[in-house]
Amino acid sequence: MSQRLLPVIIILLFVFAERDLAFAALLTGSVETGNAAGAMRLFLPGVLFITAVQAVVKQKKGEKGQGKVSKQFTSQQQLQKEIAERKRMEEELRAAHQKLLDIIEFLPDATFVIDKDKKVTAWNRAMEEMTGVPKKEIIGKGDYVYSIPLYGKKQSVLIDLIASDDQETKDRYDYVEKRGNTFYAEAFVPYVFERKGAFLLVTASPLFDNEGNVVGAIESIRDITERKLAEEKLQHTVHELRKTQSVVIEREKLAIIGQMAAGMAHEIRNPLTSVRGFAQLLKEKCPDNDTLENYVSIIIDEVNQANSVITNFLQLARPKQPVLKLHSVNELIGEILTIVEPHAFINNIELTFERAKDLPLCMLDRDQIKQVLLNMCRNAIEAMPDGGKIAIASGQFSDEKEIFIDITDTGCGIPKDKMHNIGVPFYSTKDEGTGLGLSISYSIIHAHKGRVEVKSTLGRGTRFRIILPYTWENEKSDKS
Ligand SMILES: Nc1ncnc2c1ncn2[C@@H]1O[C@H](COP(=O)(O)OP(=O)(O)OP(=O)(O)O)[C@@H](O)[C@H]1O
Ligand SMILES: [Mg+2]
Repeated sequence: MSQRLLPVIIILLFVFAERDLAFAALLTGSVETGNAAGAMRLFLPGVLFITAVQAVVKQKKGEKGQGKVSKQFTSQQQLQKEIAERKRMEEELRAAHQKLLDIIEFLPDATFVIDKDKKVTAWNRAMEEMTGVPKKEIIGKGDYVYSIPLYGKKQSVLIDLIASDDQETKDRYDYVEKRGNTFYAEAFVPYVFERKGAFLLVTASPLFDNEGNVVGAIESIRDITERKLAEEKLQHTVHELRKTQSVVIEREKLAIIGQMAAGMAHEIRNPLTSVRGFAQLLKEKCPDNDTLENYVSIIIDEVNQANSVITNFLQLARPKQPVLKLHSVNELIGEILTIVEPHAFINNIELTFERAKDLPLCMLDRDQIKQVLLNMCRNAIEAMPDGGKIAIASGQFSDEKEIFIDITDTGCGIPKDKMHNIGVPFYSTKDEGTGLGLSISYSIIHAHKGRVEVKSTLGRGTRFRIILPYTWENEKSDKS
């Protein structure tokens, strides 16, 4: 090997990182000692240079490698971060969901939730108490199963209006109102509280996701039975109060009429008696004059009519206290039948009497009750100008200790809007009616601590029911 080439080779060996070989070449003496000094002169700056070059190259290489690794490391870190974030969000969502379920669970109102497929996703404690259905039996079930514990069958209920607003569902409630997204309704629901039923106030609202899409619905049910009953009681009291008020007004009116009637009766009755007496005398004095006799008969009839109006008037204005004795109602009916029968026959009316057995005796004023029965039978006949049927029936409500007498006809009936006039003094639809018959009858029955009920269908007929108490003194029964 040429002496000049040796240092070059050694440098090259360094260049190619074969430092060991180079040192080995130096150390093994493959480089002759004589040239060693020359080689070293070249070698040292060469080594420094090459080492620097290598360092730069290594650094570059290192940087390159390190960049790749750190990039990989960063994306892995990012992924882990995202997973952790997602997990945290899921955890938060689960916690929020659980919180919601907990809130629903302890809501005082019976509440349940359905998803978009109408499957039950929540059914709280109050709902369990109201229906008797535990949540584990119903959660996850769909197909209107939630209506069974309410109505005993599968059918749409208020919560279903969220998905489709249909009339059939609304008709199941007393009223349905929509305010914003929420439906409000009230109804009597028969199957709740062990089938005792209850009046319920129901509200149903949609549930939305973050983007505002409907994902389900929630229904809350409140038992308002007590409130309803209180309302009904209040309404009843108001009704009774109004009735009492109108009775008081009526009595006041009657008191004024009574005073007038008493004065009139005195002033008119006496001259009427004279007219009637002289008319009678005239009739007797001219027995052969038919025309005159006819006229006089008309005078006597008219005077009789005027007299009866005045008598009725007086009776209504100053009702006589009933003279009460134990009587058989069936017997009284039998007595008036003999009076009514001929009138019924003439008017082509069939008259029947269904007599109740073992009817208790009642404390009655015989003449007054007979007058009531006659008034009602006369009205029934007058309601059937073309004939028909009158069915009289007696009976008793033993639990209420009351007896009743029904007078039912197949006559013209009373229009609904005229029902409130029945029994009001001077209300009459007849040309010759005074409109006092029923008001006198009502006042007599009230004086007996009884009442009158009327049921009527226009064009089909009317039933007057007289109800009288029989617990006055004893409960002797009528074996007739
Ligand atoms: N059975 C009935 N069917 C249909 N309407 C009736 C019946 N009973 C009573 N009414 C109605 O009630 C009104 C009042 O009856 P009420 O007996 O008081 O008087 P009236 O019969 O008209 O006259 P009055 O009895 O003095 O002759 C009648 O005019 C009639 O319109
Ligand atoms: Mg009448």
